[in-house]
Amino acid sequence: MNDDRSIIITDVSPRDGLQNQARPIGTQDKLGLIERLAAAGVSSIEIGSFVSPRAVPQMADTEDVVRASARLAPTRLSVLAPNLRGLERALACGAREVAVVLSATETMNQRNIRMSLEAATQASIGVLRAARDAGLRTRAYVAVAIACPFEGPTPVSRVAALAEAMLDAQADEIVLADTIGAGSPPQVEALLREVVRAVPVEQIGAHFHDTRGMGVANAWAALQNGVRRLDGSAGGIGGCPFAPGAAGNVATEDLLVLAEQSGFRTGIDPAGLIAAIDHAQAFLGTPLGGRALPWLRRQYAKGEA
Ligand code: COA
Ligand code: ZN
Repeated sequence: MNDDRSIIITDVSPRDGLQNQARPIGTQDKLGLIERLAAAGVSSIEIGSFVSPRAVPQMADTEDVVRASARLAPTRLSVLAPNLRGLERALACGAREVAVVLSATETMNQRNIRMSLEAATQASIGVLRAARDAGLRTRAYVAVAIACPFEGPTPVSRVAALAEAMLDAQADEIVLADTIGAGSPPQVEALLREVVRAVPVEQIGAHFHDTRGMGVANAWAALQNGVRRLDGSAGGIGGCPFAPGAAGNVATEDLLVLAEQSGFRTGIDPAGLIAAIDHAQAFLGTPLGGRALPWLRRQYAKGEA
């Protein structure tokens, strides 16, 4: 982070956005999205996941995606790797950054990665340590950080304890994820107040889904509480296959407008972001876009929208 008004947006559309799409998506289409995001100035992109191809068929080509996008460095390109098998795959194809995903409830871990909360915690610690030993940068998601689709509201103290465990395992970034978009600004604030007691705010990221239209409001609450790392998805693409009712991530373009109109900088070029969204819209065959997209198009699109 350069200064207090600079925000790092991680665009997770190639992973969180595409993992649950009904129609098969070609590797070239994914690469086209990733390249356009990087060209737009998105400095951090989550480009795939090393999970079971049977569980998530859309991510089966992540090796190819990692190899083909390596030339986009210094853009940070991360991949999800929930177990050591995933980390081995990441290392074998030259990934430079991995993310572990630890859900804050027993049931969500079981449904998502078929581990108990304790086993998932240990697996995440193992992956973080091994990744760091291999020289990789790391992100640790603490998922269902506000509420779980199976267990209801998540205790703030538990999220804080898990975030601290991820910090102890030397995660570079700890990402609090409202996986099902259940949160409100006061809840985000209450959560952050607790977590910053254990984790330096510079290392905290916030990952919101827009299920109830609260994504931008929650992002604002995070910004107001010192967080400068936000996850978004171009066009708001997304949804988690293992969390019933989860809608797409808060749209990157909505975060961009929120940030720029509030005196923050993202380094992202709106016209370039629109080009990335248009590309995704073409290969997904469905209209995309956060609330700000029509306005942004009128301001910045270069006649092609
Ligand atoms: N990459 C590819 N395959 C993997 C793998 C990985 N990281 N980890 C395990 N596998 C394979 C095993 O080889 C085995 O394959 P087989 O059935 O052909 O023999 C199968 O997956 C089951 O292996 P097991 O060790 O018993 O793991 P599991 O059944 O407990 O599954 C996960 C663990 C994490 C691999 C699986 O639950 C998963 O992929 N979940 C998806 C998580 C996800 O992407 N969620 C959305 C984002 S948060
Ligand atoms: Zn998510």
